[in-house]
Amino acid sequence: MKELTIRRPDDFHLHLRQGENMKKYAAASAASFSRALIMPNILPPVCDPAGLKAYRDEIQKSCEGFTPLMTFKILPHMKAEDIKPLKEAGALAGKLYPAGVTTNAEDGISSLDQIRDVLFAMEEEGLVLSIHGEDPNASILEREIRFLPQLEKLVSSYGKLKIVFEHISRRESLLFLNELPERVAGTITAHHLLYTLDDLMGAALKPHLFCKPVVKTEEDRQALAEAVLNGHSRLFFGSDSAPHLKENKENAVVSAGVFTSPILMPLLADFFEREGCLSNLEAFVSERGASFYGLPLNRETLTLRKESWMVPDLIGGAVPLLAGTELFWRVLP
Ligand code: DOR
Ligand code: ZN
Repeated sequence: MKELTIRRPDDFHLHLRQGENMKKYAAASAASFSRALIMPNILPPVCDPAGLKAYRDEIQKSCEGFTPLMTFKILPHMKAEDIKPLKEAGALAGKLYPAGVTTNAEDGISSLDQIRDVLFAMEEEGLVLSIHGEDPNASILEREIRFLPQLEKLVSSYGKLKIVFEHISRRESLLFLNELPERVAGTITAHHLLYTLDDLMGAALKPHLFCKPVVKTEEDRQALAEAVLNGHSRLFFGSDSAPHLKENKENAVVSAGVFTSPILMPLLADFFEREGCLSNLEAFVSERGASFYGLPLNRETLTLRKESWMVPDLIGGAVPLLAGTELFWRVLP
């Protein structure tokens, strides 16, 4: 196949940061995606209506024709009354970060009891609970599995709450998701579908592939790939593209986050084509996420052509994954 045209995709998990560089990151996403669910872990966090609107305006002004879908960060001191105004300001989801689990999550949640009323209010308002599902007290490879009992508790305690288990990275998590009700879905990133610990640090340490949750074993990768390629009904695309400045990635201490937005659709088209499942790409990137969030499907299309191009070395001070290498599908403007 020389050209591929699909319904324009959405990215249901994106970090855009702030300021001048944000414009470049937003433009890199807007080249392929119509809408993106914007993560709230900026400084200070998106956690009230004014902050949410200001951040949305900043994104919208910087990038025409791209729709930011807003989230807020759930903080330990929040009250039930804080939730309705956030929904009225346009929030679609609240993001739960266990305290200390990742970049800018020091102010996260240390016990689910802290946010009982907030979660009841979110359930009442029909807001989605988006979860970074890792237990920061567990060992690095076990963090996601150690979070599963908490996920189960959330699902059973809030009987109507819609939940997204973000960036699933383990086979066990998928098996666990399969046993949960329809109102619980998961996002999958491109990097967890394509890479493993051996890519991260088998031959040499690749800081640009370091993220939370960390990429896992080949067995895990294969389980994710099989589920996504076969059109698992409750998995949809969320890139977790998370740019950090080059100096914070090429350093003795490396920030977690993989900057993938400039290469996502070429990578995914290549992967689905190689696996003989290109016809399942559109539902993964353009349909199931919107349906889960109750959004209309995009009417516009995106065309990719088989044409090689080089991934740039730097965008907005950040090094994209696969910088300087050749990719074989190109997104047409
Ligand atoms: O690797 C990550 N980077 N994981 C996250 O959960 C946050 C993100 C970031 O903001 O850099
Ligand atoms: Zn993220």
